[in-house]
Amino acid sequence: MKLLITGGAGYIGSHTTLELLNAGYEIVVVDNLCNSKEESLRRIQQLTGKSLVFYNVDLLDRKNLDTVFARESIESVIHFAGLKAVGESVKMPLDYYYNNITGTLNLCSIMSNYDIRTLIFSSSATVYGDPHTVPIKEDFPLNPTNPYGRTKFMIEEILKDLYNSDNRWNIALLRYFNPVGAHGSGRIGEDPNSTPNNLMPLIAQVAVGRGSILTVYGNDYPTPDGTGIRDYIHVVDLATGHLKTLNKIVKDPGFYIYNLGTGRGFSVLEVISAFEEISGKKIKYTIGERRSGDIAICYADPARANRELSWKTYFGINDMCVDMWRWQSLNPNGYE
Ligand code: NAD
Ligand code: UD1
Repeated sequence: MKLLITGGAGYIGSHTTLELLNAGYEIVVVDNLCNSKEESLRRIQQLTGKSLVFYNVDLLDRKNLDTVFARESIESVIHFAGLKAVGESVKMPLDYYYNNITGTLNLCSIMSNYDIRTLIFSSSATVYGDPHTVPIKEDFPLNPTNPYGRTKFMIEEILKDLYNSDNRWNIALLRYFNPVGAHGSGRIGEDPNSTPNNLMPLIAQVAVGRGSILTVYGNDYPTPDGTGIRDYIHVVDLATGHLKTLNKIVKDPGFYIYNLGTGRGFSVLEVISAFEEISGKKIKYTIGERRSGDIAICYADPARANRELSWKTYFGINDMCVDMWRWQSLNPNGYE
């Protein structure tokens, strides 16, 4: 089966592309490289010994996107491409709405013109906002609190409407919790074009000497050690979640929503201490103010994905730190 992977050069897209190639799929990647480098694709081909086709195309460029579909006999699409920095989305909401929503509209309308209706979409746990209780189930109320989260929420609604208008569509919305870690080879990992804002890459940068000190955003949350709790999921487990989802929806078409998380939360201090143990480096940190928009506790109930996809996570927090550290220490400047 030939798959189109939008955003396939990016962090989660590259790990998923690698697993899909290994599983025997033919892969076409579309990415405008606004937050990634083509080197990730070169390394994936090196690691798998298989080749893929790459188009440096922007989803906002309908004409060139159409050409990709005209040239390639694509059967299904996994749609990762999007902007994802929460803080930036608050400052540049129009860019976020335009890129994420118009990009998805272009993609879906071209898919429809070519009679391709199988789509897996990268959503986020951010659509739940601040949940009343944890663990979070898929049917919890949605209440995103920033423009980035609202693009995910709106795209989810658009895809639901699309499915309701024509049941030949076959769609899965995957709500990721906190993806971290890197491929076990240490050859592919996260390398954003701007400074990262997420905890694990920031810890790794302090460990490798690229950052001097980590600020822990608040230690007065109602959690055992006062710091925020999140459901960190190894990016390779997340990647295999996409393979399992594809198997499921190809066999049993419909409209599906799945939480992809481990079901276990770790506090900021627990993550720091796991990373210190693995890397043998002291992570210098200071306690700062709470970050605006942060919530105390967020972790998944992944039971639906476990049951319906026959998927479960394999890696624990120590594996995530080991693989993150290997990637960071072997590639201190990312793919450069
Ligand atoms: P990423 O930035 O590494 O990858 C996204 C890729 O999309 C990049 O390679 C970028 O160049 C490309 N892209 C962006 N806009 C594009 C456009 N208009 N046309 C073509 N390519 C475009 O991000 P990621 O962490 O791999 O995330 C992948 C998806 O998962 C995103 O949709 C993101 O919102 C979602 N997600 C990520 C996380 C996370 O923590 N990383 C959590 C939840 C959801
Ligand atoms: C953030 C986004 C979320 C997005 C997710 C994955 C916000 C408010 N939320 O989630 O929408 O889906 O990334 O991309 O940005 N922390 C520190 N110091 C730091 C960085 C983080 O203490 O320098 C803490 C945070 O307060 C939080 C935890 O570490 O408790 C995890 O933070 P982060 O990795 O940014 O993920 P989220 O905030 O869960």
